[in-house]
Amino acid sequence: MSKIKNSFVCENCGVEHSKWKGQCSFCKEWNSIVEQIIKDQPTKSWSNNYDLKEIIPTQLDNVDINNEKRILTNDSEFDRVLGGGIVPGCVILIAGEPGIGKSTLLLQVSSKINGSVLYVSGEESLTQIKIRSNRINFKKSDFYVLNETDSEKIFHNITKIKPNLLIIDSIQTVTSSLISNSIASVSQIRKCTSDLIDFAKKTNTPVFLIGHITKDGSIAGPKVLEHMVDTVIQFEGDQEVNYRIIRTNKNRYGATNEIGIYEMNESGLKIVKNPNKYLISNKNIKKSGHAIGCSIQGIRPLMIEVQALVSSAVYGTPQRSATGFNSKRLNMILAILEKRAGIQIGSKDVFLNITGGINVDDPSIDLAVISSIISSHENIPIDRNICFSGEIGLSGELRGISKPKERLSEAEKLGFNLFVTSNSNIDNLDKSKIVIKKLDQIEDLIEFLFR
Ligand code: TYD
Ligand code: MG
Repeated sequence: MSKIKNSFVCENCGVEHSKWKGQCSFCKEWNSIVEQIIKDQPTKSWSNNYDLKEIIPTQLDNVDINNEKRILTNDSEFDRVLGGGIVPGCVILIAGEPGIGKSTLLLQVSSKINGSVLYVSGEESLTQIKIRSNRINFKKSDFYVLNETDSEKIFHNITKIKPNLLIIDSIQTVTSSLISNSIASVSQIRKCTSDLIDFAKKTNTPVFLIGHITKDGSIAGPKVLEHMVDTVIQFEGDQEVNYRIIRTNKNRYGATNEIGIYEMNESGLKIVKNPNKYLISNKNIKKSGHAIGCSIQGIRPLMIEVQALVSSAVYGTPQRSATGFNSKRLNMILAILEKRAGIQIGSKDVFLNITGGINVDDPSIDLAVISSIISSHENIPIDRNICFSGEIGLSGELRGISKPKERLSEAEKLGFNLFVTSNSNIDNLDKSKIVIKKLDQIEDLIEFLFR
Protein backbone atom coordinates (compact mmCIF):
# COMPACT_ATOMS: atom_id res chain seq x y z
CA MET A 1 0.00 0.00 0.00
CA SER A 2 1.35 3.38 -0.91
CA LYS A 3 1.36 6.05 1.73
CA ILE A 4 0.37 9.62 1.01
CA LYS A 5 2.40 12.51 2.40
CA ASN A 6 1.38 16.15 2.53
CA SER A 7 3.78 19.02 2.52
CA PHE A 8 3.74 22.73 1.81
CA VAL A 9 6.19 24.17 -0.69
CA CYS A 10 7.00 27.73 -1.67
CA GLU A 11 6.42 28.16 -5.43
CA ASN A 12 9.04 30.88 -5.53
CA CYS A 13 12.06 29.38 -3.81
CA GLY A 14 11.09 25.74 -3.42
CA VAL A 15 11.59 25.57 0.36
CA GLU A 16 9.32 23.08 2.18
CA HIS A 17 7.29 24.11 5.23
CA SER A 18 5.54 21.90 7.76
CA LYS A 19 2.31 23.91 7.60
CA TRP A 20 0.66 26.49 5.38
CA LYS A 21 1.68 30.13 5.89
CA GLY A 22 0.77 33.35 4.15
CA GLN A 23 4.40 34.33 3.67
CA CYS A 24 7.40 32.13 2.99
CA SER A 25 9.78 32.57 5.91
CA PHE A 26 12.75 31.88 3.65
CA CYS A 27 12.28 34.11 0.58
CA LYS A 28 9.63 36.38 2.14
CA GLU A 29 7.29 36.02 -0.86
CA TRP A 30 3.57 36.34 -0.06
CA ASN A 31 0.94 33.80 -1.14
CA SER A 32 3.48 31.50 -2.70
CA ILE A 33 3.02 28.44 -0.51
CA VAL A 34 1.02 25.57 -2.00
CA GLU A 35 0.14 22.16 -0.69
CA GLN A 36 1.67 19.17 -2.41
CA ILE A 37 0.77 15.54 -2.01
CA ILE A 38 3.50 12.97 -2.50
CA LYS A 39 2.57 9.35 -2.98
CA ASP A 40 5.25 7.57 -1.04
CA GLN A 41 5.51 4.46 -3.17
CA PRO A 42 8.23 1.88 -2.95
CA THR A 43 9.20 2.75 -6.54
CA LYS A 44 11.58 0.86 -8.71
CA SER A 45 14.57 3.10 -9.15
CA TRP A 46 15.89 3.70 -12.67
CA SER A 47 19.29 2.64 -11.37
CA ASN A 48 18.20 -1.00 -10.98
CA ASN A 49 18.90 -1.52 -14.66
CA TYR A 50 22.24 0.22 -14.73
CA ASP A 51 25.64 -1.17 -13.80
CA LEU A 52 26.69 1.50 -11.37
CA LYS A 53 30.13 1.68 -9.83
CA GLU A 54 30.19 2.24 -6.11
CA ILE A 55 31.21 5.79 -5.29
CA ILE A 56 33.86 5.97 -2.58
CA PRO A 57 35.83 8.90 -1.13
CA THR A 58 39.00 9.77 -3.06
CA GLN A 59 42.07 11.68 -1.91
CA LEU A 60 42.04 15.08 -3.60
CA ASP A 61 45.73 14.62 -4.45
CA ASN A 62 44.83 11.64 -6.57
CA VAL A 63 42.23 13.44 -8.64
CA ASP A 64 43.66 13.99 -12.11
CA ILE A 65 41.90 16.77 -13.97
CA ASN A 66 43.84 16.00 -17.14
CA ASN A 67 41.81 12.84 -17.33
CA GLU A 68 38.61 14.83 -17.73
CA LYS A 69 37.49 14.09 -21.26
CA ARG A 70 35.04 16.52 -22.75
CA ILE A 71 32.62 15.55 -25.45
CA LEU A 72 33.12 17.87 -28.39
CA THR A 73 30.01 18.95 -30.23
CA ASN A 74 32.07 20.09 -33.24
CA ASP A 75 30.17 23.35 -33.12
CA SER A 76 32.92 25.84 -32.27
CA GLU A 77 30.57 28.43 -30.74
CA PHE A 78 28.72 25.91 -28.57
CA ASP A 79 31.92 24.20 -27.43
CA ARG A 80 33.47 27.51 -26.45
CA VAL A 81 30.39 28.68 -24.57
CA LEU A 82 30.45 25.43 -22.60
CA GLY A 83 34.10 25.99 -21.72
CA GLY A 84 35.57 23.47 -24.18
CA GLY A 85 32.86 20.88 -24.85
CA ILE A 86 30.39 18.92 -22.76
CA VAL A 87 31.59 17.49 -19.46
CA PRO A 88 30.32 13.91 -18.99
CA GLY A 89 27.63 13.78 -16.32
CA CYS A 90 26.84 17.47 -16.39
CA VAL A 91 23.34 18.89 -16.52
CA ILE A 92 22.91 21.90 -18.77
CA LEU A 93 19.83 24.08 -18.79
CA ILE A 94 19.12 25.93 -22.02
CA ALA A 95 16.64 28.73 -21.46
CA GLY A 96 15.01 31.04 -23.92
CA GLU A 97 11.80 32.50 -25.29
CA PRO A 98 9.54 30.30 -27.40
CA GLY A 99 10.58 30.19 -31.04
CA ILE A 100 14.10 31.41 -30.43
CA GLY A 101 15.66 28.15 -31.65
CA LYS A 102 16.36 25.95 -28.61
CA SER A 103 15.05 22.74 -30.17
CA THR A 104 16.85 23.49 -33.43
CA LEU A 105 20.16 24.08 -31.66
CA LEU A 106 20.01 20.83 -29.70
CA LEU A 107 18.98 18.85 -32.76
CA GLN A 108 21.96 20.26 -34.62
CA VAL A 109 24.31 19.57 -31.73
CA SER A 110 23.06 15.96 -31.49
CA SER A 111 23.84 15.32 -35.13
CA LYS A 112 27.48 16.18 -34.59
CA ILE A 113 28.00 14.08 -31.47
CA ASN A 114 29.44 10.59 -31.44
CA GLY A 115 27.17 8.20 -29.58
CA SER A 116 23.48 7.65 -29.13
CA VAL A 117 21.08 10.43 -28.24
CA LEU A 118 17.62 10.20 -26.69
CA TYR A 119 15.46 13.25 -27.38
CA VAL A 120 12.42 13.38 -25.13
CA SER A 121 9.81 15.81 -26.36
CA GLY A 122 6.86 16.74 -24.24
CA GLU A 123 5.87 19.59 -26.48
CA GLU A 124 6.00 18.48 -30.06
CA SER A 125 4.80 15.42 -31.91
CA LEU A 126 7.24 13.12 -33.64
CA THR A 127 6.04 14.50 -36.99
CA GLN A 128 6.94 18.04 -35.97
CA ILE A 129 10.41 16.91 -34.91
CA LYS A 130 10.81 15.05 -38.20
CA ILE A 131 9.81 18.15 -40.20
CA ARG A 132 12.39 20.20 -38.31
CA SER A 133 15.05 17.56 -38.84
CA ASN A 134 14.34 17.52 -42.59
CA ARG A 135 14.62 21.27 -42.66
CA ILE A 136 18.10 21.25 -41.18
CA ASN A 137 19.09 18.16 -43.16
CA PHE A 138 19.60 16.13 -39.99
CA LYS A 139 21.14 12.68 -40.29
CA LYS A 140 21.96 10.35 -37.40
CA SER A 141 21.08 6.71 -37.10
CA ASP A 142 21.40 6.32 -33.31
CA PHE A 143 19.05 9.21 -32.55
CA TYR A 144 15.90 8.20 -30.69
CA VAL A 145 12.85 10.37 -30.15
CA LEU A 146 10.29 9.83 -27.45
CA ASN A 147 7.04 11.70 -27.10
CA GLU A 148 6.39 11.45 -23.36
CA THR A 149 5.86 13.66 -20.33
CA ASP A 150 5.60 11.14 -17.50
CA SER A 151 8.91 10.98 -15.70
CA GLU A 152 8.58 7.29 -14.70
CA LYS A 153 7.94 6.29 -18.32
CA ILE A 154 10.81 8.47 -19.51
CA PHE A 155 13.16 6.71 -17.09
CA HIS A 156 11.85 3.34 -18.20
CA ASN A 157 12.93 4.22 -21.76
CA ILE A 158 16.22 5.71 -20.67
CA THR A 159 17.18 2.45 -18.99
CA LYS A 160 16.23 0.54 -22.15
CA ILE A 161 18.19 2.74 -24.56
CA LYS A 162 21.02 3.84 -22.25
CA PRO A 163 21.80 6.90 -24.37
CA ASN A 164 25.15 8.72 -24.39
CA LEU A 165 23.30 12.02 -24.33
CA LEU A 166 19.84 12.85 -23.06
CA ILE A 167 17.76 15.86 -24.12
CA ILE A 168 14.55 16.86 -22.33
CA ASP A 169 12.40 19.32 -24.28
CA SER A 170 11.17 20.91 -22.04
CA ILE A 171 11.68 20.41 -18.30
CA GLN A 172 8.43 22.28 -17.62
CA THR A 173 6.41 19.59 -19.39
CA VAL A 174 7.82 16.63 -17.45
CA THR A 175 5.68 15.48 -14.56
CA SER A 176 6.05 12.81 -11.96
CA SER A 177 2.95 10.81 -11.09
CA LEU A 178 4.30 10.57 -7.55
CA ILE A 179 3.43 14.20 -6.98
CA SER A 180 -0.16 15.15 -7.55
CA ASN A 181 0.07 18.74 -8.51
CA SER A 182 -0.60 20.78 -11.61
CA ILE A 183 1.89 20.65 -14.47
CA ALA A 184 4.81 23.11 -14.20
CA SER A 185 4.35 23.46 -10.48
CA VAL A 186 7.46 23.97 -8.50
CA SER A 187 7.51 20.57 -6.83
CA GLN A 188 7.07 18.76 -10.15
CA ILE A 189 10.00 20.59 -11.71
CA ARG A 190 12.13 20.10 -8.64
CA LYS A 191 11.44 16.39 -8.34
CA CYS A 192 11.95 15.65 -12.05
CA THR A 193 15.11 17.75 -12.24
CA SER A 194 16.65 16.12 -9.20
CA ASP A 195 15.92 12.64 -10.64
CA LEU A 196 17.56 13.64 -13.92
CA ILE A 197 20.58 15.10 -12.10
CA ASP A 198 20.87 11.87 -10.12
CA PHE A 199 20.82 9.94 -13.39
CA ALA A 200 23.43 12.22 -15.01
CA LYS A 201 25.85 12.01 -12.09
CA LYS A 202 25.57 8.30 -11.49
CA THR A 203 25.88 7.24 -15.13
CA ASN A 204 28.16 10.04 -16.34
CA THR A 205 25.66 10.86 -19.06
CA PRO A 206 25.29 14.53 -20.01
CA VAL A 207 21.73 15.84 -19.86
CA PHE A 208 20.33 18.90 -21.62
CA LEU A 209 17.20 20.45 -20.17
CA ILE A 210 15.30 22.95 -22.27
CA GLY A 211 13.61 25.58 -20.12
CA HIS A 212 11.03 28.23 -20.89
CA ILE A 213 11.35 31.74 -19.73
CA THR A 214 8.56 33.86 -18.38
CA LYS A 215 7.46 37.25 -19.70
CA ASP A 216 9.85 39.10 -17.40
CA GLY A 217 12.77 37.09 -18.77
CA SER A 218 13.39 34.75 -15.83
CA ILE A 219 13.40 30.98 -16.15
CA ALA A 220 9.93 29.55 -15.51
CA GLY A 221 9.84 27.45 -12.38
CA PRO A 222 11.65 27.82 -9.13
CA LYS A 223 14.92 29.64 -8.78
CA VAL A 224 16.30 26.38 -7.37
CA LEU A 225 16.27 24.96 -10.90
CA GLU A 226 19.19 27.24 -11.75
CA HIS A 227 20.97 26.29 -8.52
CA MET A 228 20.54 22.59 -9.16
CA VAL A 229 22.01 22.35 -12.66
CA ASP A 230 25.70 22.71 -13.51
CA THR A 231 25.38 25.13 -16.38
CA VAL A 232 22.76 27.64 -17.45
CA ILE A 233 22.82 28.80 -21.05
CA GLN A 234 20.58 31.68 -22.00
CA PHE A 235 19.41 31.86 -25.58
CA GLU A 236 18.79 35.44 -26.58
CA GLY A 237 18.14 37.28 -29.76
CA ASP A 238 16.09 39.67 -31.66
CA GLN A 239 13.18 37.91 -33.40
CA GLU A 240 13.23 40.67 -36.02
CA VAL A 241 16.82 40.14 -37.08
CA ASN A 242 17.97 36.59 -37.55
CA TYR A 243 20.86 36.70 -35.12
CA ARG A 244 20.81 34.49 -32.03
CA ILE A 245 23.13 34.70 -29.07
CA ILE A 246 23.87 31.99 -26.55
CA ARG A 247 25.37 33.05 -23.26
CA THR A 248 26.47 31.16 -20.14
CA ASN A 249 24.96 32.67 -17.02
CA LYS A 250 26.36 29.97 -14.81
CA ASN A 251 29.00 27.38 -15.57
CA ARG A 252 30.59 25.03 -13.09
CA TYR A 253 33.02 23.93 -15.80
CA GLY A 254 34.09 27.13 -17.52
CA ALA A 255 33.87 30.90 -17.77
CA THR A 256 30.56 32.68 -17.57
CA ASN A 257 29.42 35.48 -19.82
CA GLU A 258 30.92 33.69 -22.78
CA ILE A 259 28.79 34.27 -25.83
CA GLY A 260 28.27 32.46 -29.12
CA ILE A 261 26.59 34.08 -32.09
CA TYR A 262 24.49 32.30 -34.72
CA GLU A 263 22.34 33.28 -37.61
CA MET A 264 18.99 31.51 -38.06
CA ASN A 265 18.32 30.87 -41.70
CA GLU A 266 16.05 28.53 -43.66
CA SER A 267 18.18 25.49 -42.88
CA GLY A 268 18.90 26.01 -39.19
CA LEU A 269 21.45 27.91 -37.12
CA LYS A 270 24.70 28.89 -38.78
CA ILE A 271 27.76 30.09 -36.87
CA VAL A 272 28.59 33.76 -37.40
CA LYS A 273 32.34 33.61 -38.09
CA ASN A 274 33.08 37.30 -37.71
CA PRO A 275 30.66 38.67 -35.11
CA ASN A 276 32.28 42.09 -34.97
CA LYS A 277 31.27 42.68 -38.55
CA TYR A 278 27.62 42.08 -37.77
CA LEU A 279 27.62 44.03 -34.52
CA ILE A 280 28.91 47.20 -36.13
CA SER A 281 26.69 48.80 -38.74
CA ASN A 282 28.02 50.41 -41.89
CA LYS A 283 31.19 52.31 -41.04
CA ASN A 284 30.41 55.00 -43.60
CA ILE A 285 27.28 56.23 -41.81
CA LYS A 286 28.17 59.46 -40.11
CA LYS A 287 25.37 60.29 -37.70
CA SER A 288 25.50 61.80 -34.27
CA GLY A 289 24.73 59.55 -31.31
CA HIS A 290 26.75 56.53 -32.46
CA ALA A 291 29.89 55.24 -30.72
CA ILE A 292 31.71 51.93 -30.83
CA GLY A 293 32.83 50.33 -27.60
CA CYS A 294 35.21 47.45 -27.12
CA SER A 295 33.92 45.07 -24.45
CA ILE A 296 34.98 41.66 -23.22
CA GLN A 297 32.38 38.90 -23.33
CA GLY A 298 33.76 35.84 -21.58
CA ILE A 299 37.25 35.58 -23.00
CA ARG A 300 36.60 37.30 -26.28
CA PRO A 301 36.76 41.00 -27.13
CA LEU A 302 33.63 42.17 -28.92
CA MET A 303 33.01 45.47 -30.63
CA ILE A 304 29.65 46.85 -29.67
CA GLU A 305 27.81 49.70 -31.28
CA VAL A 306 26.04 52.03 -28.88
CA GLN A 307 23.36 54.39 -30.16
CA ALA A 308 21.87 57.23 -28.17
CA LEU A 309 19.11 59.68 -28.85
CA VAL A 310 18.79 62.77 -26.69
CA SER A 311 15.81 65.00 -27.29
CA SER A 312 13.72 67.57 -25.44
CA ALA A 313 11.28 65.89 -23.08
CA VAL A 314 7.74 65.77 -24.44
CA TYR A 315 6.14 65.19 -21.06
CA GLY A 316 6.92 66.80 -17.74
CA THR A 317 9.11 63.96 -16.54
CA PRO A 318 11.90 63.08 -18.93
CA GLN A 319 11.97 59.50 -20.19
CA ARG A 320 15.03 57.31 -19.89
CA SER A 321 15.06 54.02 -21.65
CA ALA A 322 17.82 51.52 -22.34
CA THR A 323 17.82 48.41 -24.50
CA GLY A 324 20.63 45.94 -23.90
CA PHE A 325 22.08 48.10 -21.12
CA ASN A 326 21.26 48.37 -17.42
CA SER A 327 18.87 51.29 -16.99
CA LYS A 328 20.10 52.01 -13.44
CA ARG A 329 23.61 52.40 -14.81
CA LEU A 330 22.27 54.71 -17.52
CA ASN A 331 20.71 56.91 -14.83
CA MET A 332 23.99 56.95 -12.95
CA ILE A 333 25.91 57.97 -16.08
CA LEU A 334 23.42 60.77 -16.78
CA ALA A 335 23.85 62.05 -13.23
CA ILE A 336 27.65 62.01 -13.62
CA LEU A 337 27.36 63.91 -16.90
CA GLU A 338 25.22 66.57 -15.26
CA LYS A 339 27.17 66.92 -12.04
CA ARG A 340 30.78 66.34 -13.12
CA ALA A 341 30.80 67.54 -16.71
CA GLY A 342 28.14 70.22 -16.57
CA ILE A 343 26.11 68.75 -19.44
CA GLN A 344 22.53 69.97 -18.96
CA ILE A 345 20.67 66.76 -19.64
CA GLY A 346 18.25 66.63 -16.70
CA SER A 347 15.26 67.80 -18.73
CA LYS A 348 15.95 65.65 -21.79
CA ASP A 349 14.56 62.32 -22.93
CA VAL A 350 17.41 59.84 -23.33
CA PHE A 351 17.11 56.60 -25.30
CA LEU A 352 19.98 54.17 -25.45
CA ASN A 353 20.27 51.12 -27.64
CA ILE A 354 22.93 48.44 -27.93
CA THR A 355 22.60 47.14 -31.46
CA GLY A 356 22.49 43.48 -32.47
CA GLY A 357 20.19 42.34 -29.65
CA ILE A 358 23.12 42.02 -27.23
CA ASN A 359 22.92 42.65 -23.50
CA VAL A 360 26.12 44.21 -22.21
CA ASP A 361 27.14 44.23 -18.60
CA ASP A 362 30.85 44.85 -19.06
CA PRO A 363 31.35 48.28 -17.40
CA SER A 364 34.07 49.20 -19.88
CA ILE A 365 31.28 50.06 -22.33
CA ASP A 366 30.62 53.22 -20.21
CA LEU A 367 32.95 55.34 -22.29
CA ALA A 368 31.10 54.49 -25.51
CA VAL A 369 27.75 55.11 -23.79
CA ILE A 370 28.88 58.55 -22.58
CA SER A 371 30.36 59.48 -25.95
CA SER A 372 27.18 58.49 -27.81
CA ILE A 373 24.98 60.48 -25.41
CA ILE A 374 27.10 63.65 -25.67
CA SER A 375 27.37 63.18 -29.44
CA SER A 376 23.59 63.10 -29.76
CA HIS A 377 23.14 65.95 -27.30
CA GLU A 378 25.58 68.20 -29.14
CA ASN A 379 24.65 66.80 -32.55
CA ILE A 380 28.28 66.15 -33.43
CA PRO A 381 29.06 62.79 -35.07
CA ILE A 382 31.96 60.74 -33.77
CA ASP A 383 34.58 59.43 -36.19
CA ARG A 384 33.76 55.76 -36.85
CA ASN A 385 37.43 54.82 -36.68
CA ILE A 386 37.51 55.50 -32.95
CA CYS A 387 36.88 52.73 -30.48
CA PHE A 388 36.19 53.35 -26.77
CA SER A 389 36.91 51.25 -23.71
CA GLY A 390 36.74 52.43 -20.12
CA GLU A 391 34.61 52.46 -17.01
CA ILE A 392 33.41 55.62 -15.31
CA GLY A 393 33.46 56.23 -11.56
CA LEU A 394 31.05 58.39 -9.58
CA SER A 395 33.47 61.29 -9.40
CA GLY A 396 33.84 61.29 -13.17
CA GLU A 397 37.20 59.50 -13.17
CA LEU A 398 37.95 56.90 -15.84
CA ARG A 399 38.89 53.51 -14.46
CA GLY A 400 41.10 50.78 -15.81
CA ILE A 401 39.97 47.96 -18.10
CA SER A 402 40.60 44.25 -18.00
CA LYS A 403 42.45 42.45 -20.82
CA PRO A 404 43.72 45.65 -22.50
CA LYS A 405 46.07 43.72 -24.79
CA GLU A 406 43.28 41.58 -26.25
CA ARG A 407 41.04 44.59 -26.78
CA LEU A 408 43.74 46.57 -28.52
CA SER A 409 44.71 43.80 -30.88
CA GLU A 410 41.06 43.21 -31.82
CA ALA A 411 40.57 46.93 -32.50
CA GLU A 412 43.72 46.94 -34.57
CA LYS A 413 42.59 43.89 -36.53
CA LEU A 414 39.28 45.53 -37.36
CA GLY A 415 40.94 48.63 -38.76
CA PHE A 416 40.23 51.16 -36.00
CA ASN A 417 42.94 53.79 -35.82
CA LEU A 418 42.29 55.34 -32.43
CA PHE A 419 41.66 53.59 -29.11
CA VAL A 420 40.29 55.89 -26.39
CA THR A 421 40.68 54.54 -22.88
CA SER A 422 41.59 55.41 -19.31
CA ASN A 423 45.02 56.38 -18.16
CA SER A 424 45.40 53.63 -15.61
CA ASN A 425 46.50 50.27 -16.91
CA ILE A 426 47.60 50.55 -20.44
CA ASP A 427 51.21 51.65 -19.87
CA ASN A 428 53.19 48.85 -21.44
CA LEU A 429 51.06 48.63 -24.56
CA ASP A 430 52.36 51.70 -26.30
CA LYS A 431 54.13 49.63 -28.91
CA SER A 432 50.90 48.74 -30.70
CA LYS A 433 50.23 50.27 -34.12
CA ILE A 434 46.90 51.78 -33.19
CA VAL A 435 47.02 55.23 -31.58
CA ILE A 436 46.03 55.12 -27.92
CA LYS A 437 44.44 58.15 -26.31
CA LYS A 438 44.59 57.94 -22.53
CA LEU A 439 42.23 60.08 -20.51
CA ASP A 440 41.90 60.73 -16.77
CA GLN A 441 38.39 61.98 -16.40
CA ILE A 442 35.17 62.74 -18.16
CA GLU A 443 36.03 66.39 -18.83
CA ASP A 444 39.10 65.25 -20.81
CA LEU A 445 36.87 63.10 -23.01
CA ILE A 446 34.56 66.02 -23.79
CA GLU A 447 37.50 68.30 -24.45
CA PHE A 448 39.10 65.75 -26.75
CA LEU A 449 36.02 64.77 -28.76
CA PHE A 450 33.76 67.77 -28.92
CA ARG A 451 35.65 70.97 -28.24
P1 TYD B 1 12.61 26.21 -32.50
O1 TYD B 1 13.90 25.47 -32.47
O2 TYD B 1 11.38 25.41 -32.63
O3 TYD B 1 12.49 27.17 -31.24
P2 TYD B 1 12.20 26.82 -29.70
O4 TYD B 1 12.50 25.38 -29.49
O5 TYD B 1 13.13 27.74 -28.96
O6 TYD B 1 10.78 27.17 -29.44
O7 TYD B 1 12.75 27.26 -33.70
C1 TYD B 1 11.63 27.98 -34.01
C2 TYD B 1 11.82 29.08 -35.03
O8 TYD B 1 12.94 28.98 -35.84
C3 TYD B 1 10.63 29.04 -35.91
O9 TYD B 1 10.04 30.32 -35.88
C4 TYD B 1 11.13 28.72 -37.25
C5 TYD B 1 12.57 29.08 -37.20
N1 TYD B 1 13.43 28.18 -37.99
C6 TYD B 1 14.12 28.70 -39.07
O10 TYD B 1 14.04 29.87 -39.41
N2 TYD B 1 14.93 27.84 -39.80
C7 TYD B 1 15.07 26.54 -39.47
O11 TYD B 1 15.81 25.82 -40.15
C8 TYD B 1 14.33 26.02 -38.35
C9 TYD B 1 14.42 24.59 -37.98
C10 TYD B 1 13.52 26.88 -37.64
MG1 MG C 1 11.14 23.91 -28.89
